[in-house]
Amino acid sequence: MKVAMQMGSLIYCGLALLLFYMMEKLLVLVWWKPTEIQKHFRKQGIYGPLYRPVLGSLAELGKIYGQAPSAPPPQPPFQSHPCHSFLRYVFPHLPIWRENYGSVYLYWYGRSPRLSITDPELIKEMTMNPRRYTQSIQHPVVHLLLGKSIIAVGGETWATQRRLLNPFFLMETLKGLSGVVLSAIEERIERWNDLMESNKLEIEVHKEFESLAQCIIAKVIFGNDAEESLPIIQLQSQQAALSSQAVRTFYIPGSRFLPTSFNRRSKWLRQDAERRFNELIDRREWREGQKEEDWLSLMLSLKTMSRQQIIDECCTIAIAGSESTNLLLAWACVLLGVHTEWQDRAREEVHHVLKGSRPTTEILSQLKTLNMIINETLRLYPPVPFVMKKTEEETKIGNLIIPAGVDVEVPLIAVHHDRNQWGDDVYRFNPGRFAEGISKASKHPMAFMPFMQGPRICLGMNFAMIEAKIVLTMILQKFTLAISPRYKHEPVCGLTMKPGKGAHVMFHKV
Ligand code: HEM
Repeated sequence: MKVAMQMGSLIYCGLALLLFYMMEKLLVLVWWKPTEIQKHFRKQGIYGPLYRPVLGSLAELGKIYGQAPSAPPPQPPFQSHPCHSFLRYVFPHLPIWRENYGSVYLYWYGRSPRLSITDPELIKEMTMNPRRYTQSIQHPVVHLLLGKSIIAVGGETWATQRRLLNPFFLMETLKGLSGVVLSAIEERIERWNDLMESNKLEIEVHKEFESLAQCIIAKVIFGNDAEESLPIIQLQSQQAALSSQAVRTFYIPGSRFLPTSFNRRSKWLRQDAERRFNELIDRREWREGQKEEDWLSLMLSLKTMSRQQIIDECCTIAIAGSESTNLLLAWACVLLGVHTEWQDRAREEVHHVLKGSRPTTEILSQLKTLNMIINETLRLYPPVPFVMKKTEEETKIGNLIIPAGVDVEVPLIAVHHDRNQWGDDVYRFNPGRFAEGISKASKHPMAFMPFMQGPRICLGMNFAMIEAKIVLTMILQKFTLAISPRYKHEPVCGLTMKPGKGAHVMFHKV
C-alpha cells in the first residue's frame, strides 16, 4: 500500500515537473524571447506596435484593415480623374506605421518578428549581402509554387543556383527573344484585328497579356514543346493564385496537414505539374539527337542539375517570367489609356525611331520616352510590391544589429510612394521624372527598385524589359488606347499587385 502511494506521488511529481517544464518552454516562446527581441531593437531606437502574446501585432493590423476602405471611391471616376494614391486602400498599415514609427520599425506576425525597412540607404546595404539571408516563405503553399528553386533558397545554395542560371539571362543569350516576342504579339494583333467591330475592340488586357506572356515563356523554355507545356504553366498560375490568397491570411502552424479543399487542391496542382513535366522530359530523352535550343534542353545538357532541380527552376521561371511582365504590360496600357498625352508622345517616338519596321533588341535602347513610361508604371504599380527575407545569422545593416531568424521586409511599393523621395507630385503619373536617368529621379539614387537591387536583383529584368518594350511598340504602331468606361480602379495585392476588377482598355485602329 505504502509503495503504491509512493509510486503515485512520484508520478504526480513527474507530471508536475513535466507540466512546469512545458509551461516554461511556452513562456519562453510566447513571452520571454519576443520581449527580449523587442528590447534589443528598442535599445537601437527601433520602435513599432507593442508585442502581444501569441497574436503579436495581428489584432492591431486587423483593426487598421477593418477601418480602412478596401477600394478607392467610385466618384470621381478614374477615367476622368486618374488618382494613383492607393496605398491606404491596399496596405493601410504602411502609411500609418511609417508615420508613427519612421522608416524602420518592428512589428509582429504572431510570434515572428518582422523588421520593415523603407529607408533606401538601409535597403541598399541589406541587398549587398544576399548570402546572409534566406527567402522568408510566408505560407507553406508557396513551397508548392517554388519548390527548391532559386527564389526559394538562400545562402550558398542560392549562390550556386544563381551561377548556374546566370548565363540564360545574359543580353547575348536573350538576343533570340525578340523573334519569339514578335511572332507572339503579331499573332495576337492579327486576332484582335479579326475581332474588331467598327475598328475598335475592348480588351481585358490583364487576362490577354497573361496568356501572351505564358506563350512567350513557354516558347523560350520548352521550344517545340511549347504548346504541350502550356498546361504546366497554367497549373503554376493557379498555384500562384492560391499562394496569393494564402499570404493575405494568417497561417496557423500545422494547418497545412489538414485535409481541407485548399490543401488538397494545392498539392494536386503541384503533383500534376510535376507529372506532366516528367512526361515531357521522358519524351525528350526518347528523341535524343534532335537539335533543340530551348532552355530545357540547355539545362538537361548541363548534367550538373538533377531532374527535380530542373523542374523546380523551370516551373519558377515560368511563373516569375509570365506573371510580373504581364502585370507591367497591363498597368502600362491602363496608364496610357488615361494619360493619352504620354501615349501620343510614345507613339511619335516609336514612329520616328522604327519608321514602320519591326523592333530589334538593339534599337529598343533608342526608345527613351517608352523607357520613361515603363519606369513610371513600375514605380506607381510595382508588380512585386513586397520582398521578404529572413536573417540566417546575426546581421548588421548600417548601424543596426539584427539577430538571426528575423524577417526583414522591404515594402518597395512604400518607397516608390514616398513623398520624401519623389517630391510633391509623388502620386502623379509623370514619366518625365526619369528624363535624366533613374538615379536622378528621386532624392536617394536607389529609391527606384521594382526588380530589387544588388547581387540578388531579378534575374529576368532584361528579359522583362525586352518583352514589354516590343509588345508596347507593336501595339502603339497599330492602335490608340483609351481606358474603357467599364474599368474600375481597384488594385489588389497578394504576391503580386493586380487590377482587382480587370483592366478593360479600348483598342482603336490607328
Ligand atoms: C516586370 C517584370 C518583373 C518584375 C517587376 C520582377 C521583380 C522581381 C523581384 C522584385 C525579384 C526579387 C524577389 C526577391 O528577392 O524575393 C525578382 C526575382 C526574380 N525574378 Fe523577376 N521580375 C520580373 C520579371 C521576371 C522575368 C521575366 C523572369 C524570368 C524570365 C524573372 C525571374 C526572376 C528570378 C529567377 C528571380 C530570382 C532571382 C534570385 O533570387 O537570385 N523575373 N523579380
